[in-house]
Amino acid sequence: MRNYYIAGNWKMHKTRAEAAALASALVTQLKDGKHQYLVAPSFTSLETVAPLVKGSNIRLGAQNMAAEEQGAHTGEISVLQLKDLGVQAVILGHSERRHTYHEDDALINKKVKLALQHGLEVILCVGELLSEREAGKAQEVCETQTVKGLAGVSAADLARVTIAYEPVWAIGTGKTATPEDADAIHAYIRQVVARLYGADKAQQILIQYGGSVKPDNAAQLMAKENIDGALVGGAALNPETFVPIANTCGGRSGGGVL
Ligand code: PGA
Repeated sequence: MRNYYIAGNWKMHKTRAEAAALASALVTQLKDGKHQYLVAPSFTSLETVAPLVKGSNIRLGAQNMAAEEQGAHTGEISVLQLKDLGVQAVILGHSERRHTYHEDDALINKKVKLALQHGLEVILCVGELLSEREAGKAQEVCETQTVKGLAGVSAADLARVTIAYEPVWAIGTGKTATPEDADAIHAYIRQVVARLYGADKAQQILIQYGGSVKPDNAAQLMAKENIDGALVGGAALNPETFVPIANTCGGRSGGGVL
């Protein structure tokens, strides 16, 4: 049985003091939480949040990283710098990176491999635009992003990869995919992983749902067989909304490690 994994993507929000207050509240309020958790503050708050979540059940994540290890890349952040701060996981291929900053599958794949090579965990985001969904291409887009994102990733390294299905039209819009529609894509992604890595790995991989997850829709989403948690944006910005999502039990018992 897969465990739930709930991640908060704080995006470009919060000063260091605000990030510290949120992280401290989450550590306290989730200390008996049954699932696996992650927070991904802005780069500027990573050093502040790191000691606060250290030793807790909340992992420290970054929202992006460069595709190169180091060098002349003005404005970029390297995997070595993230590790130096105690970062354990990195979100890659978020739709805001894909669509606002024009990251393509090849670049994202390079980042995925670099992160894994350096021992980080990866949350690989995939998801279709509204126009792609309306054209009946949701599965195809998610398949391509999954296959290309994971190209060259070994079966052993796949154990450190979580996939997040985030339909772009649902992010920050208040529109959520229905639990049935989301589950259908999750099941499809799992089939793609089965084709690439075999049925056992496909059963083990965690697939989070993201896109306007709130306390009042998390349980229905996570009750679905193939939805293994959530990648939460807006509702991750305060404990009043993140903690109820983090405590959601869609039917599976918690415990265990990733
Ligand atoms: P949202 O963002 O929960 O605000 O829709 C999710 C995400 O972009 O990861």
